[in-house]
Amino acid sequence: MDKKLIINARKPKGELGSEIIERMNESHEKLAQWGVSHLKIKENDVILDIGCGGGVNVKRFAEMISKGKVYGIDYSEVSVEKSSNMNKLAIDDGKVEIIQGSVSDLPFDDGTFDIVTGFETVYFWPNFIEDLKEVNRVLKTNGVIFICNEAVGDEDILEEMKEHIELLDMKIFSEEDLYSALSISGFTNISTFRKEGTPWVCAIAYKS
Ligand SMILES: C[S@@+](CC[C@H](N)C(=O)[O-])C[C@H]1O[C@@H](n2cnc3c(N)ncnc32)[C@H](O)[C@@H]1O
Repeated sequence: MDKKLIINARKPKGELGSEIIERMNESHEKLAQWGVSHLKIKENDVILDIGCGGGVNVKRFAEMISKGKVYGIDYSEVSVEKSSNMNKLAIDDGKVEIIQGSVSDLPFDDGTFDIVTGFETVYFWPNFIEDLKEVNRVLKTNGVIFICNEAVGDEDILEEMKEHIELLDMKIFSEEDLYSALSISGFTNISTFRKEGTPWVCAIAYKS
C-alpha cells in the first residue's frame, strides 16, 4: 500500500483519508466481529466508540440496542463525515450521534456511558494512561471499557511491523501492557483475549 495512503490511518484527511476509511471498513470487519463477541450488550446501554473511523462499529452497536444510544467520536473531520453518512438514518432517529473530538478531552459528563470501545485506535492516543483515565471518567460505575487491536506487541509482530510503526508513529501494546495500563488508570476485573493463529488482541475492564 502507498505510504501516503497508510499514514492516513492515524488521522484520515482529504481524499486519501476517505479511501483508507473505505478500506478499513472492510479489512477490520472480521477483527471487529471477533472482538464484539466478547462483549455483553444490553438493549438500553449507552455506548461510546472512540476513534470511530468509518462508523461501522457505531452502526453495529446501534443495531444491537433498542432503547439506548450510541455515540461515535473521532478527531478527524473525514472520519466524522464518513461515520455520519454510514449512520444517517439512526442519527435522524436520535439513536446515534457522531461528534468531532479527541479522546484526551471527551465532551461528556462524568458517568455517562455503560460501554466505551476503541477499535484499532489506541495505537495513536497521545497519552495512553491519561486517556484511559479520561475514559474512566465518562464511564458509569461498573461500566466497561473495551479495546480491540489487530496487532499485539509480541516481539515477532513488532519486527514485522517495524516500517508501519515508524511511518505511523504507532504504539503497539502487548497483553501485559494493556493489562498494566488499564490497572494503573483505575480499572478492575481486567481480562485480555487472543485469537489463536493471529496477532489480534482485545481487552475488557470495568470501572469500579
Ligand atoms: C485505524 S483508524 C480505525 C477506525 C475504526 N475504529 C476501525 O476500526 O476501522 C483510527 C481512528 O482513530 C482516530 N483517532 C486516532 N487518535 C485519536 C484521538 N486521539 N482522538 C480521537 N480519535 C482518534 C483516527 O482519526 C482514525 O479515524
